[in-house]
Amino acid sequence: MITKIDLYEEPVEILDRLENRGYAGMSDFELSFLCGAIKEFRPRKIVEVGVAAGGTTAVILNCLKSLDCSCEMYSVDICEQCYFDLSKKTGFVAKKFLEEEPIDIIKHQFLLGNTIAASLDKIGKDIDFVILDTMHSLPGELLDFISLYNSLNKRAVVIFHDISQSQLGFGNVNGAPFEYASLVTLAITNSEKLLVSDKSNIAGLCNIGGMRLKEETEDSIENLFLGLFINWNYLPDNRHLCEYRQRIKKEYDEQYYQMFEQAIECNMFSLYRRQGLEIPLKTVKDEFENVLKKAEKIYIYRAGKIGREVEKYIRNCFDEKKIRGHIISDKKMNTCDDVIELSEIENMDCSVIILGLHEKYHLEVLNSLYQKGLSKYVFPYNGIGFRELMKVIEYENRFYGKFELYENVYGYEQLIREGYRY
Ligand SMILES: C[S@@+](CC[C@H](N)C(=O)[O-])C[C@H]1O[C@@H](n2cnc3c(N)ncnc32)[C@H](O)[C@@H]1O
Repeated sequence: MITKIDLYEEPVEILDRLENRGYAGMSDFELSFLCGAIKEFRPRKIVEVGVAAGGTTAVILNCLKSLDCSCEMYSVDICEQCYFDLSKKTGFVAKKFLEEEPIDIIKHQFLLGNTIAASLDKIGKDIDFVILDTMHSLPGELLDFISLYNSLNKRAVVIFHDISQSQLGFGNVNGAPFEYASLVTLAITNSEKLLVSDKSNIAGLCNIGGMRLKEETEDSIENLFLGLFINWNYLPDNRHLCEYRQRIKKEYDEQYYQMFEQAIECNMFSLYRRQGLEIPLKTVKDEFENVLKKAEKIYIYRAGKIGREVEKYIRNCFDEKKIRGHIISDKKMNTCDDVIELSEIENMDCSVIILGLHEKYHLEVLNSLYQKGLSKYVFPYNGIGFRELMKVIEYENRFYGKFELYENVYGYEQLIREGYRY
């Protein structure tokens, strides 16, 4: 069922009195929709996730004031400082607005520096109105909604900004293919949808929408966790991942927690591989040549099929005397004369470690090199451009077609490679 929300425009006028119109990330139309939803449902406990300067926060506060709607409101943002102006505190516009015009019927609090998953300990349950406006790409709003779900009132309203971002794009960008986190969350949650049409956008697409939970929403939990397997566009950092882990472990059955862990693992890998897709071969080749010329000692990480092809390339095209050996983790596993354990290398100065092993081991190897403080010696740095490096080597060594350096272990990998323009 789709419910139409009547726009409520008056509270948006407050922007005219704020610095740079509050730097609001939403258009006046979108803010009028948000105020319309507040007017319709008159919430008692509001949570806003994604604040930035706080222009939207100010509009919400003004809306509640004009409706004489007494409530609690929490504004949560992962960044303590405003993401586009680090000299200012997140929410600075709303803070100033509240200092100048205190609203005694509203108990408002900023919760900055943590995800909603951690902030919920302070907010508590019975939330009846949420505004999600954070990353727009996965896991973003989906993970936040999963974290919030058990703290919501049974008929809570959740408003998502940027539901059409993947189609509309932003600024000069026509279409932003990965910006579908809000839309996915909205689409896979069995709920009453709150939508309007925005004639100023192509095909009348509106970039804000929402949902009202209903009894059957409970059946969507499985879909929400399955949704985490749709390609992510970034990986939350370790501290934030930890906050989400703790919340999910506390709130959901073990099987869902395991799905979350699995989604992290596979997305970590697919993200890592995608990063290399756009690097021109010539750039990688030039960088490789440069690194090899500069280095006095060359190590190749691992001594398998790929490691040996890397070695052959260096022997044919560069100074083979620089090669000091293949790094392996345990010499008992390989008796060749030219293998060496990392702990045996005394001085890394003027050295380079070339990745010569399958991509599926990269994360593990890069992490362990990072922990030993050796990341700066690695080529390609962070593994980015490894595929292109392999292409260069495949071509130079003329073994192309003899065997595939990358097995098509992950199914869609071939498709990604075919879609790539060299
Ligand atoms: C698009 S801006 C928000 C704009 C704001 N709602 C407005 O209309 O002016 C996104 C904000 O989300 C914050 N953010 C990103 N990921 C977050 C997360 N997981 N939890 C909370 N805030 C997050 C960023 O720091 C940034 O301030």
